[in-house]
Amino acid sequence: MSQPTIESILQEKRLFQPPAEFSQNAHIKSLDEYQQLYDKAKANPEQFWAELAEKELHWFQKWDTVLDWQPPFAKWFVGGKINISYNCLDRHLTTWRRNKAALIWEGEPGDSRTLTYAQLHREVCQFANVLKQLGVQKGDRVGIYMPMIPEAAIAMLACARIGAPHTVVFGGFSAEALRDRLIDGEAKLVITADGGWRKDAIVALKDEVDKALDNDAVPTIENVLVVKRTSQNIHMEPGRDHWWHDLQQGVSADCPAEPMDSEDMLFILYTSGSTGKPKGVVHTTGGYNLYTHITLKWAFDLQDTDVYWCTADVGWITGHSYIVYGPLSNGATTLMYEGAPRASNPGALWEVVEKYGVNIFYTAPTAIRAFIKMGEHHPKARNLSSLRLLGTVGEPINPEAWMWYYRVIGGGRCPVVDTWWQTETGGFMITPLPGAIPTKPGSATFPFPGILTDIVDLEGNSVEDNQGGYLVVKHPWPGMMRTVYGDPDRFRRTYWEHIQPKDGQYLYFAGDGARKDEDGYFWVMGRVDDVINVAGHRLGTMEIESALVSHPAVAEAAVVGTPDELKGEDVFAFVTLESDYEASDELEKELKAHVVKEIGAIARPGRIRFTDGMPKTRSGKIMRRLLRNLASGQEVVGDTSTLEDRSVLDKLRGGA
Ligand code: WTA
Repeated sequence: MSQPTIESILQEKRLFQPPAEFSQNAHIKSLDEYQQLYDKAKANPEQFWAELAEKELHWFQKWDTVLDWQPPFAKWFVGGKINISYNCLDRHLTTWRRNKAALIWEGEPGDSRTLTYAQLHREVCQFANVLKQLGVQKGDRVGIYMPMIPEAAIAMLACARIGAPHTVVFGGFSAEALRDRLIDGEAKLVITADGGWRKDAIVALKDEVDKALDNDAVPTIENVLVVKRTSQNIHMEPGRDHWWHDLQQGVSADCPAEPMDSEDMLFILYTSGSTGKPKGVVHTTGGYNLYTHITLKWAFDLQDTDVYWCTADVGWITGHSYIVYGPLSNGATTLMYEGAPRASNPGALWEVVEKYGVNIFYTAPTAIRAFIKMGEHHPKARNLSSLRLLGTVGEPINPEAWMWYYRVIGGGRCPVVDTWWQTETGGFMITPLPGAIPTKPGSATFPFPGILTDIVDLEGNSVEDNQGGYLVVKHPWPGMMRTVYGDPDRFRRTYWEHIQPKDGQYLYFAGDGARKDEDGYFWVMGRVDDVINVAGHRLGTMEIESALVSHPAVAEAAVVGTPDELKGEDVFAFVTLESDYEASDELEKELKAHVVKEIGAIARPGRIRFTDGMPKTRSGKIMRRLLRNLASGQEVVGDTSTLEDRSVLDKLRGGA
């Protein structure tokens, strides 16, 4: 199985028409309809979004200005008052959805729970009151470091309800990574659990929180709230730590949603970039609510009768936008799963599809490749006939994986919706609308209405069909990130300065290369910066390098991505040692463990290669291109004349 290459993609000519029956009942029914929407939005984006905002959401007060664009800073629905928790909960309570399942939770080992909209609303209100009692006020940041349990969604919605921006940190990150994020976000409180289930084992989340907060390392933290999930013994710091269930007891369930300014911060979510520490991506309330709502509704053709399941973790943007906010704003039934695909239980996910009659299933190519490896007899042993749409996200999907997904999981009946987007974009940007757009395996097809994407060179000129280039967005959209938390300059530098059109126009660029074919289909090729995508997780090579050099044995480290059959890419680290250290298998293990401790298991290098020196230019820059070639066992190609010392390269070539 291979990753898509330019050649294989250009050869990909298969076209899959939306099934007629699907189109008939879809929100967007034909290519014509898509084209009309697209043209209308392009002609007047502000009017397009304003009409949707009016129709799809509840506003306590209407906005004065649709878009205030002072490049690169955008404000949407300025002056409007809104609360996303109200849109996700309260407004459904006066309809028949009151007693509809809002959240279905399938936990490990075999636990499950269903919350109706009325029940979820009650829990969110109570918990919001708990937060208030602990002194959390509008504007205070709250850290969430949780397993995939309903309380994670309840905590997010409760924060949104009282206007306290949350910052969710993926439960697989280490104490160090958690600490950095809590410090940067100046969090006042952390919500966690005693432990969580991850692949047959318990992850000691609370211990990690204790380590992160050790020695008052995060001085802004006043309280820690702990959900009892796995019931092992944990330390509870008197005065600081409280059990969620203790505090929630007897608390009033009356907590009106705070009318927020449309541009009030809803959350910070940290993501990796090509330089420095992870950046806090800031999303605000009104635009994000509209964008996640309408993208999910149209691209997944969400209907009121659907059971919808996204397998992401709430610690990532996919979980924020498409497990919690998007589905609930639409009044859908969203399924939350604590487990993960794993070899010890290869049929588990298909059992869940059968058990709940899942209609829409959304996962990542890396998971699909793992399913392929486990064998198609597992899905075939279950009744998957309830499925009507399959989504994918996280990395380019190779046509073989696409076809397998379509054939084996979708039974050749379900449109495959390949959604290209990013933490920064808030929601889907390039995606098929399944009743309207014929799909090609490996292509995310066309931009969502209102999204003006293009493929350009470094000066912002559109490139020709089938020429590779930089994928950019030419007009602001409601779901876009607003800034990097605490660092607006970094926001400008990171996303708006790489592409420099002569006319001074601002183009959004977040690091992907792509091409457009002669039919206008977009093919995303992957990152063109120093970000690698390991099993759908975004990692900055610099972050891993910093983790490595923080070990006393390491003098210098260079990290590159190498192609990996299952994960898409794997972490390959070149390391030079301090003079009094010797390369050994033990040291390799120790360094891998060190990276896990500094960042988390997702960043563990697959391989470490010890070397006496790095191939560098005369000005001292590590030539990563050469390292990438070496790491993936390819011939070193291209110009090597700028190398300072050729013998370094010869040595690296010599030893395996
Ligand atoms: C990659 C995840 C190709 C891309 C929502 C992007 C994709 C990065 C796709 C964002 C896709 C995501 N096809 N590549 N359908 N979806 N990517 O911020 O490189 O975790 O820039 O957001 O994942 O990762 P992030």
